[in-house]
Amino acid sequence: MTYEAQFQAYLEKANAAVFDLLPKTDRAYSYICKAMQYSLESGGKRIRPVLTLAFCELCGGDPEQALPFAAAVEYIHTYSLIHDDLPCMDDDDLRRGRAASHIRFGEANALLAGDALLTHAFSAICEAAPLGVPANQIVRAAHALSLRAGVLGMVGGQYLDLEAEQKKATESELQEIDLLKTCALIQAACELGCLAANAGEEEIAAAIAYAEALGMAFQITDDILDAPATTETLGKPVGSDAENEKSTYYSTLGLQGARERAAQYTQKALQALDLFEGDTAFLSQLTNSLLNRNA
Ligand code: IPE
Ligand code: IPE
Ligand code: MG
Ligand code: MG
Ligand code: MG
Repeated sequence: MTYEAQFQAYLEKANAAVFDLLPKTDRAYSYICKAMQYSLESGGKRIRPVLTLAFCELCGGDPEQALPFAAAVEYIHTYSLIHDDLPCMDDDDLRRGRAASHIRFGEANALLAGDALLTHAFSAICEAAPLGVPANQIVRAAHALSLRAGVLGMVGGQYLDLEAEQKKATESELQEIDLLKTCALIQAACELGCLAANAGEEEIAAAIAYAEALGMAFQITDDILDAPATTETLGKPVGSDAENEKSTYYSTLGLQGARERAAQYTQKALQALDLFEGDTAFLSQLTNSLLNRNA
């Protein structure tokens, strides 16, 4: 199978799970379900759930069994974006090519849709049980996801990111921000794929190291794209970081410096894949393609 066909196959499976596992109700509060669905169906690259499925397969597991984990990671990622766009955070009106959740549904409902996606992720994780994932692996997945999404992970990073506005952050401060706000959830995505496959500790550690380097390259590329791309290709506002006087690799190292760092982290990610005995061609290509993306 070509890389593109494999990506499409993972994407379709992940999307089906993301929508199948959403909560449904005909009560008045279905309005919040509608808001959850709205943010999920606006697209998004789905790289996190695809990583979950790819790592599961790489470690010899059945990606079907990893689908609830993949959906859970995408729920948390989507919640993080809804909250990230709120006026009290980055104050962005456009997300995934459409009006941000708080523009479409109002601020309070956007907040609730994010809360609901976050909590529902842990319900989704438990749906791996009827698919045959052992209970101890599900507990470990819930623990990892909670730690990496919470204050010791993504939430902590979002705090540091806001704190660094209007300041000149050093490179090590920038690294700490990105490790938490972006790498942590990508690490969860890869780790959960390994857990669904009952992978060994060495494979799990390699997946986490891979995700750390990929996440750094990914966020640096995101910062670069915030500068010169057009809103049409990006699907979110351009110049948001400059407007918020954010410290990023782009603002600190300049375009050339940021590009070099992203390329270095990409190499580091590729090296981490060497530990795996299985076929890493898909993940290698994904890693390279994320460096050269334009959205
Ligand atoms: C955006 O993530 C937030 C960052 C961590 C840079 P993505 O670029 O994966 O966003 P979607 O899911 O494709 O919209
Ligand atoms: C966000 O980083 C990381 C999250 C945890 C949501 P950004 O603020 O740069 O993400 P975008 O550019 O708005 O997608
Ligand atoms: Mg932000
Ligand atoms: Mg933002
Ligand atoms: Mg950004």
